[in-house]
Amino acid sequence: MPDLSTTLAGLKLANPTLTCSGTCGYAKEYADFMDLSQLGAFVTKSITREERPGNEPTRIVETRAGMLNAIGLANVGLKRFLNEKMPVIRTMPCPVIANVAGYSYEDYVETCAAMNGLDGIVGVELNVSCPNVKDGLTFGTDPVRLKDLTRQVKNVLPDKPLIVKLSPNVEDIIATARAAIEGGADMLSLVNTFTAMAVDIWKRKPRLANVTGGLSGPAIKPIALHLVSRVYRGIARSTGTPIIGMGGVQFWQDAVEFILAGASAVSIGTALFVDPATPNKVCTGLEEYLAKIGVEQLSDLVGTLELPGDKPKAAL
Ligand SMILES: Cc1cc2nc3c(=O)[nH]c(=O)nc-3n(C[C@H](O)[C@H](O)[C@H](O)COP(=O)(O)O)c2cc1C
Repeated sequence: MPDLSTTLAGLKLANPTLTCSGTCGYAKEYADFMDLSQLGAFVTKSITREERPGNEPTRIVETRAGMLNAIGLANVGLKRFLNEKMPVIRTMPCPVIANVAGYSYEDYVETCAAMNGLDGIVGVELNVSCPNVKDGLTFGTDPVRLKDLTRQVKNVLPDKPLIVKLSPNVEDIIATARAAIEGGADMLSLVNTFTAMAVDIWKRKPRLANVTGGLSGPAIKPIALHLVSRVYRGIARSTGTPIIGMGGVQFWQDAVEFILAGASAVSIGTALFVDPATPNKVCTGLEEYLAKIGVEQLSDLVGTLELPGDKPKAAL
């Protein structure tokens, strides 16, 4: 049987499929529809220090080959997360990663400090695609600010791996990737959604109440793949920083593309709305693929994409 296990900065996962934050609740909401025990890891909805109702509806619209969301980080907040969600999370049959968001440095630091000692949480993913309330600038698009934020968070999270989730809405993703690594990120995940909009031509108004939202799903996969490849070759490979790739993964072939491009694992989000069992099916497909090409360990394929100018790869 081929070995799908992957080790991410010391975190050993049975297979490389994770859920994308925000697409399947806090823990067991999808338990009737997917086999949670077969996930490499489950990633929670973003948790903020304070409870948030999120944006007004309409906050999700379907687009061609994808969807737009402007949920506005609706979530129960740290206190209720600890009291109501953690008892359920502790009974999960797979590792759970908490995704944390914030609107100030203090927000992130306080929430991540609370995660550090929590049993039942194996790591923290930082959603940095949020504007700072003080000046409205997004944490994840400015390398100086991102490095500072990562450093402050890592200081209060010494006992768990920190994953910084990169925004694709930047001119130079290697600059933000480098900032996160220099700030102390143990891993990178990419990408978050692309800022986009859709128009109702009859009302001549935006389809989302928030006007803009984040585009996800198959429509973004080729761009996400390109960004993973750039970050892997531009910084992550040389620093030994594992990448969790995401953006439009729907079939096992998509996961293989991300892994060849440099991802050590993949997260699956929008595809869950079509078929919640997607991660389980991706694993089956990966096993069959490895058997077909005669490779024992999936991890041997990470970053083995050969680009023009590369030294030819050893035969598989
Ligand atoms: C409905 C919805 C809600 C999301 N909420 C969050 C969130 O709370 N925190 C976060 O970091 N990313 C959030 N995302 C982004 C996803 O985690 C992921 O980065 C993105 O959707 C790309 O992957 P996909 O194409 O497989 O969905 C959300 C995406 C969707 C579709």
